[in-house]
Amino acid sequence: MSLLVKGGTVVGPTGTQVADVLVEGEKIVALLDPSFSQTITPDEVIDASGKYVIPGGIDAHTHMELPFGGTAASDTFDTGTRAAAWGGTTTIIDFAVQRTGEVVQDGLAAWHAKADGNCHIDYAFHMILGGVDTDALKAMDQLVADEGITSFKLFMAYPGVFYSDDGQILRAMQTARENGAMIMMHAENGIAIDVLVQQAIARGETDPIYHGITRPAALEAEATSRAITLAEVAQDCPLYIVHLSASQALEHVAAARDAGRNVFAETCPQYLYLTLEDQLGAPGFEGAKWVCSTPLRSKHESHAKDLWKGLRSNDLAIVSTDHCPFCMKDQKELGLGDFSKIPNGIGGVEHRVDLIYQGVVDGQLSLERWVETIATTPARMFGLYPQKGIVAPGSDADLVVYDPNATTRISVETHHMNMDYSAYEGVEIQGRVGTVISRGEVIVADGNYHGRKGRGRYLKRGLSSYLL
Ligand code: URP
Ligand code: ZN
Ligand code: ZN
Ligand code: ZN
Repeated sequence: MSLLVKGGTVVGPTGTQVADVLVEGEKIVALLDPSFSQTITPDEVIDASGKYVIPGGIDAHTHMELPFGGTAASDTFDTGTRAAAWGGTTTIIDFAVQRTGEVVQDGLAAWHAKADGNCHIDYAFHMILGGVDTDALKAMDQLVADEGITSFKLFMAYPGVFYSDDGQILRAMQTARENGAMIMMHAENGIAIDVLVQQAIARGETDPIYHGITRPAALEAEATSRAITLAEVAQDCPLYIVHLSASQALEHVAAARDAGRNVFAETCPQYLYLTLEDQLGAPGFEGAKWVCSTPLRSKHESHAKDLWKGLRSNDLAIVSTDHCPFCMKDQKELGLGDFSKIPNGIGGVEHRVDLIYQGVVDGQLSLERWVETIATTPARMFGLYPQKGIVAPGSDADLVVYDPNATTRISVETHHMNMDYSAYEGVEIQGRVGTVISRGEVIVADGNYHGRKGRGRYLKRGLSSYLL
């Protein structure tokens, strides 16, 4: 079966070119000069004239079905990967979880059991370590060697749940330095935050906005700096700061990078577009929709502007969603009268490609940088390149035909995520995902869905291309 994506402008990390993309089976086999492709007769032709042809999006940070705060993230691997496909994302990297006291490999097996046979697009795993001990350190080696899991997330937040102390973090970093894995860090000082939370609740400050006020930017910056220091002590272990939201944290990352350190970071669309005052501070309990950690930051400071700049300068390498949806009904509502009981997370896996394209429209990013931050760099960072993340011969035929002349209006009425609200309700974007192709198969076209659950494959990942 051959497929020709014809007449589009192919966008890659280093430039654009007008080219026809020839697909045979699951792979891209050639980028052809349009005059040359007149001579071939593919089985199927997709007209991409006037449109961009980009590599399928890679969302390197999702939490399908994550148990959290007495409930579980509302998207399953089935509903969440289907929604991702609708939004032009053809690969996710989800976080398998080792709970405290659990054998790492058991946590991984439980995650495979949730995902296997249910995904609409290809998927890989990072591993959350919730209990770093000697066995967990040995398991890190085994996962890197045998399971295609080459990145491990640790938490400086959530004492009593996922929290690791500095000694545990240092030991995990030393192990990663040896086996080539990446340490991903949730960088917030959770011990100090818990004090602020208890004090706020005692004062009767229980509304959702206090979730943000009790997690100040300074405590994200402190933890980011401490993580960078611990990684330095671990012989420059590769370090990736997840869901970075504060300017002050970004400054620490930028300084480390300017010093030539093995330090990387991502941000998420919510920190580029949403704020402490306008969303988290919405009247009544409404703000619960936007409770996530790290929290949304103040619009009276320069966070969003600095994050866009960080994306341009590569101090921020990637935009991921941290997709961790909870419905308002029965889930976010667990925190009525006490913000600390609101499950943490925002859903957005369907909207990342569009929301970051809006950065191109607004003059924040180049077309090439859009593609790089949503697809190419995630593939390189997490050992999926060049199978994923690039429109090139030999790569998987994961392609999105993107229409810059159409518009997208985001709403709970039309999204495909299993959420009873949208964090971006009413937002209008210039640009729209058209056709979505996953390993040579057209899964979205003309507003219709042609994918199916179970077609997505587990991807064993290699080491990061950025490893020093
Ligand atoms: O609020 C968030 N980010 N929930 C998901 C878990 C995490 O820390 O990434
Ligand atoms: Zn986190
Ligand atoms: Zn710099
Ligand atoms: Zn997360």
